[in-house]
Amino acid sequence: MASPIKKLKIIFVAGARPNFMKVAPLMEEFKKCPEFSTILVHTGQHYDEKMSKVFFDELKIPRPDINFEIGAGNHAVQTGKILIAFDDVLEREKPDLVVVVGDVNSTIACALAAVKRGVKVAHVEAGLRSFDWTMPEEINRVLTDRISDFLFCTEDSAVKNLRAEGISKNKIFMTGNVMIDTLLKQKSAAEKSNVLKELKLSDKKYAVATLHRPSNVDDKNALNKIISTLKKVAGKLPVVFPVHPRTKSHLLTWGIPTGKIYILDPLGYLDFLKLVSHAKLVMTDSGGIQEETTILGVPCLTLRENTERPVTVKCGTNEIVGTDEKKILAAVEKILKKPPAKAKTSKFWDGKVSARIVKVLSAKL
Ligand code: UD1
Repeated sequence: MASPIKKLKIIFVAGARPNFMKVAPLMEEFKKCPEFSTILVHTGQHYDEKMSKVFFDELKIPRPDINFEIGAGNHAVQTGKILIAFDDVLEREKPDLVVVVGDVNSTIACALAAVKRGVKVAHVEAGLRSFDWTMPEEINRVLTDRISDFLFCTEDSAVKNLRAEGISKNKIFMTGNVMIDTLLKQKSAAEKSNVLKELKLSDKKYAVATLHRPSNVDDKNALNKIISTLKKVAGKLPVVFPVHPRTKSHLLTWGIPTGKIYILDPLGYLDFLKLVSHAKLVMTDSGGIQEETTILGVPCLTLRENTERPVTVKCGTNEIVGTDEKKILAAVEKILKKPPAKAKTSKFWDGKVSARIVKVLSAKL
């Protein structure tokens, strides 16, 4: 009797909030293919119900097969613990491929463990560069790309960056933005969210703010300055601010008053998508939100000095304003007077990205 064909074993890694919406469509697509068997590892870098579980529930991500429950810690501790825990999994499971997404500590830790064991690595969202070495994510991105075998890019700048770093074009695949697969799939479900009603907000009559970058929230003066600016914006239109745990703990420790800003706990995926879709504008230091606002056609002010996602500025609704109060208030004023035209979106941000990634990996593996 012929022996059954051996399936290729793929381990997917998710660790922090922005990973979950990227892993969801990938796992769904890979599960459709009989030639692959899949394992989901959650490192537990993010662990609160509102930072993790709600995404698994809403996006119907399969329960993780393994959860390291690593939790909080400085970069060395978090990365080191994940590296060791993931190495054990590699030894036990002997996968054919590890898929990592984004740029968080879980991404580099698992990619590094895999490459040292000679396991092939696919990096989804490769090649993005802020060229800012003070960002922990920039270090994670550059190192992960350097050791990955398959580099899946969201925008042309990423392909250019990888080529400029000497990475062979045979490893680089322009497949598009997998996070947008999730956004397009969930948009109508998000519309059913009651978040606007619950918060008594009306369509296009409020702003949304999010902040979590260490450069903005780990320094008392920097955080104070941004909150003071957001309070001034709140004098013009309501500002809704779902607060990341890192930011919340600093607001409380330093006793920074938030005035009329509408402070919320972190929101689930669907509530947040509805909130952003109907906002007049968004002020953020997140990377993913720059891309989501671009697709949604919502004006976005990025409260950082740079972006690793230049397509959102070139073709999208994103403007890099930094953290200078005058610049932020002028940009808000401009949007209130005349919102920018709806963005042109990349042809690769079409909801079919995970299917393209599966196609590439099916052929290459
Ligand atoms: C991490 C990622 C960042 C990503 C962000 C999204 C790295 C280096 N950074 O930053 O790229 O944009 O996630 O949120 O990987 N905490 C909780 N509950 C949780 C998770 C965290 O209370 O579920 C608290 C902990 O006290 C922790 C702090 O938030 O110390 C920060 O979490 P951490 O995982 O260190 O980094 P993030 O700032 O979330």
